[in-house]
Amino acid sequence: IEINWDINQAEKKGYPHFMLKEIMEQPEILKISSKISSEEIKKLAKLIKDSEKVYFIGMGTSYHACIYAEYLFSKLGKLVIACDASEFLNKGVVDEKTLVIALTQSGETYDTLKAMRYAKERGAKVGAIVNILGSTATREADITVLMGAGLEIAVCATKTFTSQLMIIYRLFIEFGKLLNKDMAVYERAIEKIPKYVKEVLNKKDYIERVTKDLKVNNYIFISRGINIVSALEGALKFKEITYLHAEGMSAGMLKHGTISLIDERMDTIAIVPPKNSRVFNSIISNIEEVKARNGKVIAITPVEIETADYNIITPNVIEEISPIIYAPAYQLLAYYKAVQLNRDVDKPRGLAKSVTVE
Ligand code: AGP
Repeated sequence: IEINWDINQAEKKGYPHFMLKEIMEQPEILKISSKISSEEIKKLAKLIKDSEKVYFIGMGTSYHACIYAEYLFSKLGKLVIACDASEFLNKGVVDEKTLVIALTQSGETYDTLKAMRYAKERGAKVGAIVNILGSTATREADITVLMGAGLEIAVCATKTFTSQLMIIYRLFIEFGKLLNKDMAVYERAIEKIPKYVKEVLNKKDYIERVTKDLKVNNYIFISRGINIVSALEGALKFKEITYLHAEGMSAGMLKHGTISLIDERMDTIAIVPPKNSRVFNSIISNIEEVKARNGKVIAITPVEIETADYNIITPNVIEEISPIIYAPAYQLLAYYKAVQLNRDVDKPRGLAKSVTVE
């Protein structure tokens, strides 16, 4: 037998980069994250119910997962606040009736740990949703939920993000049950998530082709509703590894300033919510507005949008799980663009896997 791999490649399981390997692992990881930590998730859901104020805090990608929690819990009438952990000391209102849930895959992020300690000192309960067992966050939190995403080596978070979303989704289901809501439709959806994610991953060759036509230096990622999370995370992935300027925002915000930037030098990635979403029609008109200004539109969408230049078609799922299903599409978009530009995909310049300083 002839072995052509060196050790480094073997760890990559034949993929050229850890990032691609980790993107492709998501169906399997999501199966694990859909079953792990059940008791802890139930306990945390009970704490959410019993707390007057609930904050989800995190940095970067983990902060985007906090925004997902904000949208999901609002559907059950529960106000939870997503907060950039580095700003928590400046605006968090904390007392004994407060619950602070830290999202941190590494469990070592300085700003997140600092905010956790601040909350604890003021008598709040502190929960942590963490990937690394034994990390500082797991030792300091009152209750820890492990995500089960396995080791993530690429600096760019991919599988740990969708794993975080899965844990939050399960927290939402358990919380709903505590309120005696019928959560059956949501529980059933969990089973199908890995299959839907695989369907999106199967579009990888098409996504690679699309990136060849992304020739400008400026990108805007837009969406509405719970997929604001996807717009923000899509832009972060893209800028982090391509070193091209990208911004994520609600499509509603476009008219309040940013639309003046749109012309043939700014491409738009529109994340179109599922058909049953009440914001589905609004995003279609936003795409038309971009086209009217000569902007190119790449739609990540459950249905073909005629006005878009490219359609990356996703399964049409319930809105609540759609941010999990859409993630691989924009992760691959960022990945292939970065490869074309010869970027150091797994170790983008100036970034560390865990940021342990302020
Ligand atoms: C995302 O691709 C980044 N690597 C970064 O934003 C990261 O999510 C952030 O530094 C938070 O890390 P943590 O989840 O380990 O706390």
